[in-house]
Amino acid sequence: MPYAKIIGSGGYLPPRVVSNDALAADLATRQVETSDEWIVTRTGIRQRHIAEPGTRTSELAIHAARAALDDAGVAPDDIDLIIVATSTPDYVFPSTACLVQAGLGASGGAAFDVQAVCSGFVYALTTADAYIQAGRATTALVIGAEVFSSILDWSDRSTCVLFGDGAGAVVLQASNTPGIIGARLNADGSQMKVLHAAGNVAHGQVVGDPFLRMDGQAVFKLAVTHLSNSAQQVCQESGVALSDIDWMVPHQANVRIINFLGRKLGLDPSRVVVTVDQHANTSAASVPLAFDTARRDGRIQPGDLVLMQGVGGGFTWGSVLVRM
Ligand code: UT7
Repeated sequence: MPYAKIIGSGGYLPPRVVSNDALAADLATRQVETSDEWIVTRTGIRQRHIAEPGTRTSELAIHAARAALDDAGVAPDDIDLIIVATSTPDYVFPSTACLVQAGLGASGGAAFDVQAVCSGFVYALTTADAYIQAGRATTALVIGAEVFSSILDWSDRSTCVLFGDGAGAVVLQASNTPGIIGARLNADGSQMKVLHAAGNVAHGQVVGDPFLRMDGQAVFKLAVTHLSNSAQQVCQESGVALSDIDWMVPHQANVRIINFLGRKLGLDPSRVVVTVDQHANTSAASVPLAFDTARRDGRIQPGDLVLMQGVGGGFTWGSVLVRM
């Protein structure tokens, strides 16, 4: 059975950078009180990229996909599988993946979306790995992309300061050498209430609440517990020790969660990739954006063992172990 090897990556962030101070000043005009000091102390976030109104997730995804294809030296027509992880699709249907396929000028292969919120990228990566291992795809484009600003309630300071927009992508190819060597996905639907955007479109109207709602403290605790268990399980199943991990690329929601997790797993902090300070939480885009950042700045090198982890609404979580 072939391995799925990551042969390229790319990222895209919308050009508009909004600092905590700028956001606090903007929110103050709506009588919403926050500060750079609160946001940095509680989350580690210093800024986020916010797309212009009307920007579609597929636009960000296509930019990231082009960067990943260039990096991999792969032409769009060589792609026989496109999976987009997103909770902010352009439309009810078609899938954002189909729009990306058309935008890239790729044709013929399968294209579909995966919905696992902030775990979406690791879910999509694991799905693409299974297709490649089974011989059902040879070259896959896996993208996490979000315009999360479109589902934020800007009067709710407990959520609106936490998120940003962006997209990250990887190209996977069948290979005789590893490769993705382990993956573990989990969900607990009974925890739906801790993080959800429970609106829908029906009969020509938005039905229910269109905005993201979160019980931050509940999510914090679930994230630390599930991600540390998941890391241990995926390492055990793959026959590697936690100490073998060269780079940990966790979901970028809160630097306090990342630090807790790193300490619980006994990982050297210098081996943990952190971008939440610059990007805030970009949901499904956060892991591939962090991964691409660390590849492009030369931290992640061929041969390195990388652990990627996602966690978020559903409740969902998952880990993927990759030999570069
Ligand atoms: O991608 C999905 C995963 N999401 C996450 O991982 C998020 C996980 N949760 C968290 O990161 C944290 O729980 C938060 C950053 C959301 C909140 O941090 P916290 O330390 O749990 O704060 P808190 O919710 O306990 O709120 C503390 C205080 C409250 O005031 P009182 O009741 O103590 O007077 C809040 O009203 O901070 C207040 N507060 C704010 N103050 C200024 C909440 N949001 C803000 C704000 N600015 N933006």
